[in-house]
Amino acid sequence: MQRLVPVASGKGGVGKSVLTANLGIALAQLGKTVVLVDLDLGASNLHTCLGIKNRHAGLGAYVWKAERTLSALLVESGRERLWFIPGDNLLPGTANLEWNTKRRLIKELAALPADYVLLDLGAGSSYNVVDFFLASPAGLLVLCPEITSVLNAYSLLKTSAFRLLLRAFPEGSEERARVLAFSGEKTEGSGQSFLDFARELAAREPERGGQALAALTRLSPSMVLNRARRSEDAELGYRLRDISRKNLGFEPAFSAFLLEDEGVQRSVALRRPLIEFDPDSPFARGVRAFATRLVAETERPLDERPSDERPSGTAQAS
Ligand SMILES: Nc1ncnc2c1ncn2[C@@H]1O[C@H](COP(=O)(O)OP(=O)(O)OP(=O)(O)O)[C@@H](O)[C@H]1O
Ligand SMILES: [Mg+2]
Repeated sequence: MQRLVPVASGKGGVGKSVLTANLGIALAQLGKTVVLVDLDLGASNLHTCLGIKNRHAGLGAYVWKAERTLSALLVESGRERLWFIPGDNLLPGTANLEWNTKRRLIKELAALPADYVLLDLGAGSSYNVVDFFLASPAGLLVLCPEITSVLNAYSLLKTSAFRLLLRAFPEGSEERARVLAFSGEKTEGSGQSFLDFARELAAREPERGGQALAALTRLSPSMVLNRARRSEDAELGYRLRDISRKNLGFEPAFSAFLLEDEGVQRSVALRRPLIEFDPDSPFARGVRAFATRLVAETERPLDERPSDERPSGTAQAS
């Protein structure tokens, strides 16, 4: 079965594109078929991280219906089992997509014939980002050990919970108004979690409310802490996990701990992914360990995943 893996972050520049490129290669090296999709609409640069020239039709062609299928956009990456779908910097309209367009796109992404489809998203908590992040219950949330990055990661999780509930009810409905009021009144650390609130909605309106509650309960994103310098940096990830559990009612699993590695900057400048350029570098080793973990996890049902498991890579930190 295909696994769709959106890669998001609350703050920009934390390493989503570098991670997506290197993780995709690592998964392909493990024998998996992988499609990497540049969904950072308006600021696409995944091709640079992969060392591919940006001269192919991208997602804009699909959005504007010049291409009828996503498969028509697949580009060979020059590596076995690894394919690429370019983004689009040339069509500014793609930066704001209608929900119906996103729904159509998500459906096709989920149907691409591959073991893994990784989506490199833009930064932040805009609905474009959040809707693609929610395309799978098990997206990756990348953060680096800075308080602003952790706070923005929390905002992304919170907006995701809010958006999931909002999307469940039609415009103008009483439930929608309740979701908006709940989110507007909610102060951090006090009162009901989003999950408690969803339970209340489900009790009042079992059909749509029940679906919203089920979707919220299924949410199980994974955190990737990138650019870590010392093992204590993991503390920030655990803090984010605890705050999310308390205020939102769900928590991201802490899945990977990747080290700050000057080789990453050099590899980006040379347009050669570090995992190929220097496979023994600390970052490349960390990404390979994470890929191995992802594969093992994909073969294990989501609800059997322990949330307090240690992230891959912590043992390498100095
Ligand atoms: N582990 C690392 N060690 C050292 N530098 C890193 C590491 N990860 C990322 N970087 C640096 O951060 C830069 C930004 O990375 P990248 O473009 O992947 O971030 P991004 O999250 O995709 O940004 P955006 O939000 O703008 O799309 C890289 O060019 C690289 O210089
Ligand atoms: Mg990026």
